[in-house]
Amino acid sequence: MVLEKSAQNIYLPFGDHQGTRFYKQDILSVNQFSQEDLIYIFGVAHEMREMVARVGTFDLLKGKILANLFYEPSTRTSSSFTAAMERLGGSLIPINEVKYSSVSKGESLPDTIRTLECYVDVIVLRHPEVGASALAAKYAKKPIINAGDGVGEHPTQALLDLYTIFEELGDPNGKTVTMLGDLKYGRTVHSLSRLLSLFDVKLNYVSPPILRMPSEIIAEINEKNIPQNETENFDEILPETDVLYVTRVQKERFEDQKDYESIKGSYVIDPDIMKKAKEKMIVMHPLPRVGEISMEFDDDPRAAYFRQMEYGLYVRMALLALVLGKA
Ligand code: NCD
Repeated sequence: MVLEKSAQNIYLPFGDHQGTRFYKQDILSVNQFSQEDLIYIFGVAHEMREMVARVGTFDLLKGKILANLFYEPSTRTSSSFTAAMERLGGSLIPINEVKYSSVSKGESLPDTIRTLECYVDVIVLRHPEVGASALAAKYAKKPIINAGDGVGEHPTQALLDLYTIFEELGDPNGKTVTMLGDLKYGRTVHSLSRLLSLFDVKLNYVSPPILRMPSEIIAEINEKNIPQNETENFDEILPETDVLYVTRVQKERFEDQKDYESIKGSYVIDPDIMKKAKEKMIVMHPLPRVGEISMEFDDDPRAAYFRQMEYGLYVRMALLALVLGKA
């Protein structure tokens, strides 16, 4: 597969585009996107980036309201959706960890969703159960954006991850992407590996044996004829890696905390180990990190994880504008 255009050289004027296929659509899984969709979204994200640099905040979504409904902790996802909405002139109802909402009185997800959609135009949902966003979407007339459903998917993170690869290294075709850490419970790698399978990439999975990439995801990606390689031997595949995607071991998802203790700290990225990596490659992480990348590596130009967070703002601005028919 060859991409004819990069995200950067597409110009998309802002305005009402209610005919685009994203208008009023839910964003539930990366499987809903084609390569053309990605190029379109990244083109809009690029415009958002330029607008933020030029004017900071503008009125594209003036009068629109977003509900940020978070049943699990979040720093980056919730605050970047907040910033995205506010930079586009819209406003926001934040419901964090649902402690102070009627969920703590036992309200069901469908009822909470039906309530919020009376007041808002779009709902961003993070929930501990796989499929929660799809369930919400079944009951909602307004668009639902999945901001993480347990160990399932995190599609907006995968979009910003792929946008990061485009911005930092260009076209992902021909690249080797190595995912490291908790591939069993990490929803970001579940979404990113699926999204990357739209391109001609090689995927390496490095994890402790109990945290391997789920076999159903490997099977799904196999059907697209994408080379995948599972290994515990990180040193062997680091030199060929163009994108090293590091993840946190998801402590909160372990049934037995002893298992967590036995594998935490298995892999740590530091300046010493990175001597074996290419000079032109990037290290990504969805964050938060809890020791798997040492702070001594932060000043290395290959450390892309802080830039990755910033790209998240532009991608989420693009998604909100598209779903609300304004980009
Ligand atoms: C990730 C998540 O919530 O899945 N964080 C994020 O959204 N940036 C990764 C994690 O919690 O480890």
